[in-house]
Amino acid sequence: MSDSAANAWVTPACLTVCLLLALASHRGPDLNGSGTSTQQTNDALVIPRHDAVAPSDKDGYKVPQPRQGLVVDSQVLRDCSFLLAGHELEQAITSGDSRRLRRQVARLVAGDKIRVVAVGASITSGAGGREWPGTQTNWPGYVTQFADWLRAAFPAANASVHNAGMAGTFSGVFAQCFDTLIPEADVYILEQTTFDGTEPDRCYCKSHYVDTPVQLGIERLIRRMLKQEHQPAVVMVNPYGYRFPNREVYQRSIENQVQVMAQFYGLPMASLRAAAWRNMLSGKNGFDVSTSVKLYGKEELPADNYPLYFDQVHPWGPTGHRMLAELLIRVVQATAAGLDIQPRGQLEAELPREDLVPPMTAGNYETNTSFCWLGDDFHGLIDKAEGFAWINERPEATERKAQKWGFVATEPDSYLEFAIDSRVASSAEDSRNRVVLSYLASYDSSMGIAGVECVAGCQCEATEIDSLWEQQASMLMTAEFAATQHRQCRVRVTVRKKTSGKGHKFKLAGVMVLPAGTHEFSASDRLEVAVPQLFGQG
Ligand SMILES: *[C@@H]1O[C@H](CO)[C@@H](O)[C@H](O)[C@H]1NC(C)=O
Ligand SMILES: *[C@@H]1O[C@H](CO)[C@@H](O)[C@H](O)[C@H]1NC(C)=O
Ligand SMILES: *[C@@H]1O[C@H](CO)[C@@H](O)[C@H](O)[C@H]1NC(C)=O
Repeated sequence: MSDSAANAWVTPACLTVCLLLALASHRGPDLNGSGTSTQQTNDALVIPRHDAVAPSDKDGYKVPQPRQGLVVDSQVLRDCSFLLAGHELEQAITSGDSRRLRRQVARLVAGDKIRVVAVGASITSGAGGREWPGTQTNWPGYVTQFADWLRAAFPAANASVHNAGMAGTFSGVFAQCFDTLIPEADVYILEQTTFDGTEPDRCYCKSHYVDTPVQLGIERLIRRMLKQEHQPAVVMVNPYGYRFPNREVYQRSIENQVQVMAQFYGLPMASLRAAAWRNMLSGKNGFDVSTSVKLYGKEELPADNYPLYFDQVHPWGPTGHRMLAELLIRVVQATAAGLDIQPRGQLEAELPREDLVPPMTAGNYETNTSFCWLGDDFHGLIDKAEGFAWINERPEATERKAQKWGFVATEPDSYLEFAIDSRVASSAEDSRNRVVLSYLASYDSSMGIAGVECVAGCQCEATEIDSLWEQQASMLMTAEFAATQHRQCRVRVTVRKKTSGKGHKFKLAGVMVLPAGTHEFSASDRLEVAVPQLFGQG
């Protein structure tokens, strides 16, 4: 410990973790500590503890700048100016089978670029952080906070972090549309305990077994990630909705089931409820759950009593999101320190290719093909069409993502057909799966009605979709029908002669197959519709 540079960052607030990491730095910048394991490192196995800091100014977010020329910026790596104290992080994190993550953190330490992809619902997409309008803060969501830290802690690696969060999306949809919605990654961050937990009848308290459709979807998503050839790491981060959906009951959360899965698959996992529960009860600054930013409305927020939530579901950037980021940062810190204390062995270096254990819920295998046809995939799927044309309705957009492609018809009797595999691996052969169509709904009186029928292979009940609605908005909505399982389930969509408005326009943008009983993604305001009083509207 004679290294004065190493001492410079030792403050009382983070004494133990700093000691631990100082031991690491004692041997120089070689954080993988290869071959220098000593008695001294055993002492370092003491669990790091530090005191919490108070939340800072709601507009005080500072992006830690990557210092070029450094492989590892140990000052950033050791940072522990956290809202959560060391013992709270310790209680909230389980390391799981750390081999996959150790491999990726070793790559970071070595300056290799790694790809991180965050998967989850609205919280992951940044709801409650500056990414979403009206949040009164410059603190971003947890993914951005974590990404900023990661790039500053490992400047040479310059990790790429992609946010694949989609508001109101159940895990089952990600599992089903994996190839369509989720880019390949070395590390997946998986947040899926708030939205998956919003179906009280289906999710929590119902059963001791992990057998509800929502839970089955989570397991298939985990399997889909783990199954990949390059053996990516999956880290679970569990937010917690104190008022909704968990109704002030600690154990009334789908996290119970998620924890069992994390344990079963050996995933590192971090839990907000475990970290923050005591402070939620005491109402400590930054943890106040008796109110939300939204409930303050135009009133000045008290700088000495920040709420944890933006709107009682979504954590707030400077508090709740910051805690989620701290949990992930600590997972990486602990893994880096662990690599130093216990270097990767030869066996671990060449992670053996093991078959994934059979599903925890018997038969709940991941699908290995995508059951989603969106964008160009949908274009390629259509093999028969008359009167429908593939059109980009926002031609001025230069980015493909922002363009609005779809099959559009404006005349009655126009039709298109496609054949899809409506079998889903985990479902019984005779059960009817859900075929979900993505179509444009609008208040424009030119919109029309289309009929949907199954014409070969599978059977389904014919349905009609009216694409004219009263809301002053045009957006892609979903309509669905149940279809029997068949390798070539042929569906025909025909524009009807009748209309509720003046025209016959109908636009289709995609189709997916979901197992019977799962939930599709719905509008992102769905929670607000369900419990308006919690959102300061009632
Ligand atoms: C980790 O150890 C290996 C083997 O001794 C060494 O070649 C490599 O440079 C080390 N990594 C770092 C970042 O020092
Ligand atoms: C880091 O990577 C991003 C792309 O992911 C790139 O735009 C940026 O220039 C890189 N930064 C450095 C310092 O290499
Ligand atoms: C996909 O799964 C099916 C059965 O579930 C299996 O027969 C097939 O070999 C798998 N394909 C790939 C590419 O893994």
